[in-house]
Amino acid sequence: MTPLPRTAGDWLHWAGRQYGRHKVALGQVATSAHDEALYLLLHTLGLPLDSKSSVLRRKLTPEQVAAVKEVFRRRLKDHVPAAYLTREAWLGEHRFYVDERVIIPRSYFLEIIPEQLPQWLPAKKPVKRVVDVCTGSGCLAILLAHQFTDAKVDAVELSPEAMAVAKFNVASHGLGKRVKLFHSDVFDAVPRAKYDIILSNPPYVPTRELRALPAEFKNEPQMALDGGSDGLVIIRKLLQQSADRLQPHGIVVLEVGGLRGAMDRAWPDLDLHWLNTSDGEDCVCVVQAARLKSWQATSGLD
Ligand SMILES: C[S@@+](CC[C@H](N)C(=O)[O-])C[C@H]1O[C@@H](n2cnc3c(N)ncnc32)[C@H](O)[C@@H]1O
Repeated sequence: MTPLPRTAGDWLHWAGRQYGRHKVALGQVATSAHDEALYLLLHTLGLPLDSKSSVLRRKLTPEQVAAVKEVFRRRLKDHVPAAYLTREAWLGEHRFYVDERVIIPRSYFLEIIPEQLPQWLPAKKPVKRVVDVCTGSGCLAILLAHQFTDAKVDAVELSPEAMAVAKFNVASHGLGKRVKLFHSDVFDAVPRAKYDIILSNPPYVPTRELRALPAEFKNEPQMALDGGSDGLVIIRKLLQQSADRLQPHGIVVLEVGGLRGAMDRAWPDLDLHWLNTSDGEDCVCVVQAARLKSWQATSGLD
């Protein structure tokens, strides 16, 4: 008989093996079973995430064993995503409260906002006004507010449940004065303003593909994923409504999963510029105000 795990390290090895046996889907919190199991273990034991490896030699108390068993039962057997178990998600150094009302933050914008957005904007003009459309937990609006410290940030969301989470996160980041939330279907109910940046990570999974998603992803709000029949429904509406809301030097920047081919085919004259990300060049695109305006005037959207 295999001996019961005794130390934190034993439990980590045990959990790592179980991830494969239970066909656990990764990608929402970490991309490796070891990293995710370590995160869950440290969090459950109340240990800092940057603990020294020596903590793995600690023998667990019976109460700790019970807590660890329960958290891994829910992760492995019920396929509850790790972030919903810990009620938190991290983008870089930024922590956000999450629960089942919002999709778990995981976005290329973490790298793109600081590293690439500034070079698309005039160096001498301070960024004054930006908007995050489809804000969910509010994470990207908050990243924008941290990056562009003089800017007013609008954040738009259609789900009232998600808005409540965004409101909590905005307040806990101390940004209540600078980040304003709007309950709206894209820009329908947002007062007119001219933005330097319109940013969005909209729902983009084609509806017919939702059923094939692993159980973990079915725990997330479906309206955070469902991009309509071709995946482009909300993106199309956003592009239609954006031209009039941009400063002349402004940009629209969109994270669109694997829809590069579909977008380039649907709107070849829009001439989207695809940004380099850690996973390649087919998930985040930029279009400048002038291009969007002239394209809309000549061809418009189908
Ligand atoms: C892919 S999630 C992105 C959430 C967040 N920005 C992030 O990166 O974690 C898309 C969000 O758009 C919201 N949403 C769906 N349809 C919308 C619409 N028509 N107008 C505004 N928000 C919408 C969903 O409720 C969800 O919170």
